[in-house]
Amino acid sequence: RAPRIVVFAGSIRTGSFSASLAALAAKELALMECEPVLLSLADYPMPIYDGDLEAAQGVPAAAKQLRDQLAQADGVFIATPEYNAGLPPLLKNAIDWASRVQGGEGDAFKGPVYAIGSSSPGGLGGYRASMMLRQTLALGLGCLVLAEQVMVAGAAGAFAESGDLKDARAQERLRAVMSTLIEQAALRAGLRA
Ligand code: FNR
Repeated sequence: RAPRIVVFAGSIRTGSFSASLAALAAKELALMECEPVLLSLADYPMPIYDGDLEAAQGVPAAAKQLRDQLAQADGVFIATPEYNAGLPPLLKNAIDWASRVQGGEGDAFKGPVYAIGSSSPGGLGGYRASMMLRQTLALGLGCLVLAEQVMVAGAAGAFAESGDLKDARAQERLRAVMSTLIEQAALRAGLRA
């Protein structure tokens, strides 16, 4: 079977640049040998994590659903924005809640291979947020995270009407990262079969 690759952005803002990056990644993946699944965190609403809330009500259903999506994936691509040189709370909160889900089939974090993308209207392309996401995934959750990543600087003017990146080299970079992600996801899928 073709590797299943889950893709989502760490922003639900209308016109979000990271959502544009996630959509483009899904579009590129669809042209390759895999099954891309584009998700929106808007469909997984969760309160801000609080231990008292968890003790009283357990983990929200949306966190369990997101965790299941990740556990069923062979590969995951996350496109993060950068807030104050770090991760936006929407994304960190979703990961934190998903990490609290007990049981269920598969392993949401040690199962799939992860790849990171970031974007920013600024010049650094969300580099610092990408490093924080890498830290949370790799050091916090034991995920296998690809070394290869894609960063889109000057995001406000980076995307063409078609959704592609105007800069051919950046577009090529995205393609290369997606291709490596599929390759590694297929390997992991084969190993787990
Ligand atoms: C930002 N932004 C921002 N950008 C950046 O490159 N480095 C940063 O440290 C920050 N800090 C920051 C903090 C907060 C609270 C906000 C709301 C925004 C700007 C940010 O990159 C911009 O709003 C993007 O458009 C957000 O990503 P989406 O929603 O377009 O995906």
